[in-house]
This record gives sequence, structure tokens and C-alpha cells, in this order.
Amino acid sequence: MDDLRQKYLDAIANAGDETALEDLRVQAIGKKGEISLKMRELGKMSPEERKAAGPALNALKDEITSALAAKKEALADAALDQRLRAEWLDVTLPGRPRRAGTIHPVSQVTEEVTAIFADMGFAVAEGPQIESDWYNFDALNIPPEHPARQEHDTFFMSRAAGDDRPPHVLRTHTSPVQIRAMQAQGAPIRVIAPGRVYRCDYDQTHTPMFHQVEGLAIGEDISMANLKWVLEEFCRAFFEVDEVELRFRASHFPFTEPSAEVDLRCSWEGGQLKVGEGDDWMEILGSGMVHPKVLQAGGIDPEKFQGFAFGLGIDRLAMLKYGIPDLRAFFDSDLRWLRHYGFAALDVPTLHGGLSR
Ligand code: PHE
Repeated sequence: MDDLRQKYLDAIANAGDETALEDLRVQAIGKKGEISLKMRELGKMSPEERKAAGPALNALKDEITSALAAKKEALADAALDQRLRAEWLDVTLPGRPRRAGTIHPVSQVTEEVTAIFADMGFAVAEGPQIESDWYNFDALNIPPEHPARQEHDTFFMSRAAGDDRPPHVLRTHTSPVQIRAMQAQGAPIRVIAPGRVYRCDYDQTHTPMFHQVEGLAIGEDISMANLKWVLEEFCRAFFEVDEVELRFRASHFPFTEPSAEVDLRCSWEGGQLKVGEGDDWMEILGSGMVHPKVLQAGGIDPEKFQGFAFGLGIDRLAMLKYGIPDLRAFFDSDLRWLRHYGFAALDVPTLHGGLSR
């Protein structure tokens, strides 16, 4: 019995893997195993012999069983250790930068503009790109025969034959969102509305689809002075300069009274734009005090409330800030252009973190 014991304990200790271990288990304590057969022989023994051999065989079987279990666990641990060693990696190595995709300048500038106005308390409002002519024109004090309708190079949706209602349009500006926001929220209100707009026009600085941001602030005592401050503050933050100078030029929009186009002092020395210095002026937006009829269309009492609105071109801002010469390339989806002018996805623009590092 001692020989048997030693034989199997040694063999178990030397087993190299689980298969060898399983073979040993079958050999020793399987149905026809050496120890099992010995146990079967107990029946042929005399009672005295059986008394001595029985417990000894049982003890041997238990010992082998636990030796097998212990070895099995040791083998599993060793396998895990080996795997951990083989799969070791140095997590302190620097990552390999892989810029598979980039943020489009239009998205980047939209985020920048939104961050700046959010800081001044403007929420973001949205409206549909397919708009009724009422929202796009009438509600903005542009009645059917108004010349401004022609100036907008409008894309009209078609109506079914026999349907005489005025056609919907692809919105020609973000101003209809003024009406929708006033109807939805009432006054006081402070929103910007970035989004796509459409006009039938195509050259180096015009594409049939482009982007605007509308601004709207209505309250009981909002004046042109507030408009001027907000726009100056915006330009300082957006162009990342300490001083800007704006020039308000009298203009005309049907939905504002008075109206002003706003120019920004700049220089173009060596083809490089510098904001806040030089002798050039660059038109950047249209603005004015919201016309009483527009307030009315939005469901707001013009006797009690007044405010300002402005509209600026996002694509144009992107071209100016990032020195992009041709607007049409914005929408060509040329990967080389996107890699060159795109922004890293994780550089979310914030006022405190920097808008465009
Ligand atoms: N909607 C005008 C445009 O597209 C811009 C504008 C908006 C002007 C708000 C004044 C007030 O040209």
C-alpha cells in the first residue's frame, strides 16, 4: 500500500497538465483503477484483514483525491501566471495618436459660438429647415409682394397639382426661429438659433446651403446698447483678442427697426486677417431692434416688451477665423481638406479651456 501511495503521489506531483492528471485519476481511483480494484478485493479477505486494509485503502483514496485536486488548482494557477506574463503590457507607454476623423470647421465654430452665447445666458433654440412661407416671410414682416422675397433666392417646395396653398420653402435664414421661440417661450427670452439655411446662389463665397446663427433677446428694457455690448463681447471671445471695434451702419431689414449692419475693424496685411487693428472694415452680421409686428406675430405684446435680434453667418466666421479661402470646399467632403482644416474630436471649445487651441 505504501508503494502504491508513493507511486501515485509522485506521479501526481510530476503531472505536466490536466490531461495527465485525469489519466492518473482513472488509473488510480477510476472504476477499474488500481486502488478501486484493491477495494473490491476487500470482500475476499478475512474479517481481521479487512479491518486493517479497509480504512487504510479509504484513507489512501482520500489522499489521492485531494492530491489530485490540489495539483489541479496548482496547474490552473501556473497557467494563469504564464498567461499574465505572456500578455503583459506597459501601460505607461504613450498612446499612438490616430486621428481617423476630425471635427468640421462649421461644427467647431457652431460649438464656439454656442459656448460664448451660453456664457451670456442665451439658450439654444431650433426650428425646421423646411418652413412655411408664413414663418419664413409673413411673420417676419415680409408680406407676399415685398421685394425682400425676391432678394432671398428662395427654394420652393412643390405642392400637389391643384393644391393652391402657398408652397413651403427651404428656410432662407434662421430668423423664423425667432417667431417659433417667442411662440414657444414667450417673453422675456434670450436664445440663439444655429442651423442650416438655403439660397439659390453659388460662387467662391456662396453655397446653396450654408449656416447662420440667429440671436434674440426680448425683455422690458432691452436696448440697442445691450445689442452693441453683446456683439462686442462675442467678437472679443470669438476672435480671441482683447480689443475689438465694431461699426454700426444703418441698414434695412423688414423684421428690425432700426436696423444695422455691423462691421468689424481689421487688417488684411499679407493676406493674414488681424481683428481689432488696421483700416479695413469687414461686414459680419445684420441686426436691429425687433419690429413690433414681429413681436406680435410671436405672440408678444410690443407695448410691454422690446428687444434685439441679429443674424450672422457661421461659415463666413469659420473662413475668417481659420483662414479658409473658398466656401465651396466646406461641402466637397474632400478628406485631404477635412484633415487639414478639421479639429481634434476631444478639443471641446469652452471659454475657460480655450475655444480653438
Ligand atoms: N435674417 C437676416 C439675413 O439672413 C439677418 C438678420 C437677422 C438681420 C436678425 C437682422 C436681425 O440676412
